[in-house]
Amino acid sequence: MQEKSFNTLTVHAGEDLTENFGAVSVPIYTASVFAFSDADEGAAIHNYQKPGYFYGKLGNPTQDALEKAIAELENGESALAFASGMAAVSAAVLTVVKSGDHIVAPDSMYSTTTFFFKHLAENFDIETSFVDATDAKNYADAIRPHTKIFWIETPSNPLVKITDISAVAKIARENSITSIADNTFATPFNQRPLELGVDLIIHSATKYLGGHSDLTAGLLVGRKDIVEKARLETTKLYGGNIASQVAWLVLRGIKTLALRMERHNSNASVIANMLSKHSKVKAVSYPGLTVNQNHEIARKQMKGFGGMIAFDIGGIEAGKTLVNNLKVCMLATSLGGVETIIQHSASMTHAALSPEERLTAGITDGLIRLSVGIEDAQDLIADLQQALDKIR
Ligand SMILES: Cc1ncc(COP(=O)(O)O)c(C=O)c1O
Repeated sequence: MQEKSFNTLTVHAGEDLTENFGAVSVPIYTASVFAFSDADEGAAIHNYQKPGYFYGKLGNPTQDALEKAIAELENGESALAFASGMAAVSAAVLTVVKSGDHIVAPDSMYSTTTFFFKHLAENFDIETSFVDATDAKNYADAIRPHTKIFWIETPSNPLVKITDISAVAKIARENSITSIADNTFATPFNQRPLELGVDLIIHSATKYLGGHSDLTAGLLVGRKDIVEKARLETTKLYGGNIASQVAWLVLRGIKTLALRMERHNSNASVIANMLSKHSKVKAVSYPGLTVNQNHEIARKQMKGFGGMIAFDIGGIEAGKTLVNNLKVCMLATSLGGVETIIQHSASMTHAALSPEERLTAGITDGLIRLSVGIEDAQDLIADLQQALDKIR
């Protein structure tokens, strides 16, 4: 039989009709503890010599189904589910590094990941070199004797920058460095970094995988030796496990991932085109635009260009006027849901910083981040245009 297409995979990912009495929706196991038939079985399951469960925090069949699903979608050997994207980020990193080690990461990426790496330097003697990740050569130039991780985030948050995944993964492999990609923005529908050579992927499943802005979750997928080490060490020691109700919600979200991503891709593409021609918009960052600095790399590694757009509206007042006049797009800080969400960092998340401090964080005063939803594209364009018209 021919290999299943991604659309078919998303609908059936993680299912096991035999184990679950034919249940089409994976059951939610809420048990925090599992009983054994006798002491020998208890010992065998505890010591991972026999498949089974013993303590909810360390796994249950619902969590297993989600892990199986993401491993299938990302084409990974093994997967582990967490209570948030940051739990997946920290587990991935702490499984690979120890004090004295060094990380290379993008100078512009999800701000909490940046803060986490700075926290590791301040508290645990694990330093990070932050480099311009739009050029793979910068990763090579930053290598030190104790470099253990190349961190990749592409497209990046919030500037939607592109990193050449296979080029960075190749340099990592040649130098025995673990490469880890945050695939939250692209999702496995648009991009599969493991197939491009990285060792591990993390996801904030809070975004597109869940897809409905109603859960917080994270996933780690990739090389079995590292994922299983994370399961036995970081998850056990630091916690951060996913609740089975949430694992089930992510599984439900994944069933419609392909449909949603098709619409996110097509809506964002027409909106990015509209914005790039609008007189009030100073600059647009969307990998699908041919003028984009790394458009060719994006074309090579992505099937579609995703639902995230960054654009610059010139200044704080212009940004506020835009977001305050929108009727369909919602003003909020998350992304990846079915609804269109807009954020003006300078007047919201980064309002407390000075303009200079904002610039250091890569945030211009007119920067807008748009998470394009699955509404009708024409309604979104009309909404954005009427709000753009109000800018003087
Ligand atoms: C690219 C990226 N990675 C990781 C995270 C962290 O995810 P969570 O909020 O689920 O911890 C986020 C959250 O916005 C993100 O945008």
